[in-house]
Amino acid sequence: MSFAFFSLVFATLALPSAASSSPTLSLFLSGPSKVTTVRELHITTTLVNTDDAEVKLLNDPRTVLSTFETDTFTITDPTGKSPSFHGVAVKYVPATVLKTNLPESFTVLAPGASVQIAHDLSKAYNFTSSGEASYDIVANNEFNYVDANGELQTIHASHPSQHTTAISGELAVARRSLDKRISYESCDSVTQTSRALSSRPLLRRRTMLPSLNRTSPRTLRPRPASLPGSAPTPVLTKAPS
Ligand SMILES: *[C@@H]1O[C@H](CO)[C@@H](O)[C@H](O)[C@H]1NC(C)=O
Ligand SMILES: *[C@@H]1O[C@H](CO)[C@@H](O)[C@H](O)[C@H]1NC(C)=O
Repeated sequence: MSFAFFSLVFATLALPSAASSSPTLSLFLSGPSKVTTVRELHITTTLVNTDDAEVKLLNDPRTVLSTFETDTFTITDPTGKSPSFHGVAVKYVPATVLKTNLPESFTVLAPGASVQIAHDLSKAYNFTSSGEASYDIVANNEFNYVDANGELQTIHASHPSQHTTAISGELAVARRSLDKRISYESCDSVTQTSRALSSRPLLRRRTMLPSLNRTSPRTLRPRPASLPGSAPTPVLTKAPS
């Protein structure tokens, strides 16, 4: 009886290490401690694979693996006020991206490797109403990855530190007037363009970016990631028509 009980406990304890373990990631932020215009509010995110196995992450535009002006950061001042979001909402379906399986849709990090990406927060946030203050900046730490069985999983990176920036002066800048220079392209042609350019990551490329509340798909040109060799480019799914 007591032996059986002991075996059961042992089996339960042994299970997690027998199954393939989930990866571990750490996310660090760095940037200026003080800016006098939001134009200088550039925050660099560093995502480190702290595991001893490779991890294959999806370049989800809703995460810091993309420079798209999505609502990727939580920004609060000491009184709890936050800037308003004036970026872009995107529809992104990880399962579809996995099925399409384009190399540029993923960031593969070897054990100990990291990917560093600079984000211009003035593109997504307007501090006019929340005002001049010292803001704590935290990044969304949820990521999608593909496990050893080729299945989609989510993981939360540990977030050992937050970044604080005192913001004053110019509190908002107008977004680029995207709509005037946006032209319609079919998803196929966009995909091919991305493919053709994927070996030249520093070139600007056109990527379809369907907004949640627009009637027709539109394209815009994301800024490429800053580091050669680690330039994740979001591949977005087609908006429902
Ligand atoms: C920022 O938000 C304020 C209102 O809170 C608005 O009046 C202003 O036009 C916005 N600025 C930009 C550049 O979007
Ligand atoms: C979407 O656009 C319509 C008008 O085209 C508007 O009435 C509606 O409020 C918008 N929804 C959101 C969530 O912005």
